[in-house]
Amino acid sequence: MTIQGIGIGFRYAIAESLLERRPDTVRWVEVHPENYMERGGKYPALLKRCMDTWPIVTHGLTMGFGTTDPHPDSYLHPLRQLLEDLDTPYHTDHMCFPSVGGAHSHDLLPLPFTDESADTVTQRIEECRDRLGLPIGMENVSYYAPAPDPMAEADFIVEVAERADASILLDVNNVYVNSLNHGFDAKVFIDKIPADRVLQLHVAGHLVRPDELIIDTHGEAVCDGVYDLLEYTLEQLGPKPVLLERDNNIPDLDELLGEIDRLTVIYERATGASTC
Ligand SMILES: [Fe+2]
Repeated sequence: MTIQGIGIGFRYAIAESLLERRPDTVRWVEVHPENYMERGGKYPALLKRCMDTWPIVTHGLTMGFGTTDPHPDSYLHPLRQLLEDLDTPYHTDHMCFPSVGGAHSHDLLPLPFTDESADTVTQRIEECRDRLGLPIGMENVSYYAPAPDPMAEADFIVEVAERADASILLDVNNVYVNSLNHGFDAKVFIDKIPADRVLQLHVAGHLVRPDELIIDTHGEAVCDGVYDLLEYTLEQLGPKPVLLERDNNIPDLDELLGEIDRLTVIYERATGASTC
């Protein structure tokens, strides 16, 4: 199965209109497994219709790779079953600290960019790859606590990718948000990421507060600065599948398809490749 061009997050709020209209510009969709694992009724039926229409990739919300605890069987068993049912070519989750002792923070807390932390993430990724039987991608997160050296995140991501032989889900909006909140050059950060490690890209909208702190809400339209950084990223990395994430304040499908159209133009202009 080939994942290429522009995809969209498959969310309940737009699922029916997406399935009804099947827009040509949407080449694939991304599913959060936690929305469907071990659920009956309408949920498996909705996923079946989705599978019959688009290639699916899965993006988890639970398995932050920075936790010091191995992920429990109670999560990994049903996750593996669902991923097999969906025939996803890979699975991704976040490079963050999600939980300790079984208690979840319900937030994507940042990791220290240290050697010890890289070892922990490497171990979790290797376990997940073995237990799920799939290639694993780790996503860079946005964070709000000041980091001693924000640019060290790029080196940390690359180091973990090498140690774990893992792929990178590069969230361009998160790089953009962090670059403004923490004061670094987003393009220099992007330049550090090796193209052959990047599996997929994310773009999303964010909120700019009156005090100018930027919050990664996934509840706004993608801004011009993120589109510009995406174009730069695609020029550097070549054609990588791009996902539009919208999780909150979800508008009519037409508005999202307008963003998909703009992403399509940028993708084709930056890479010289077709999204089809
Ligand atoms: Fe993301």
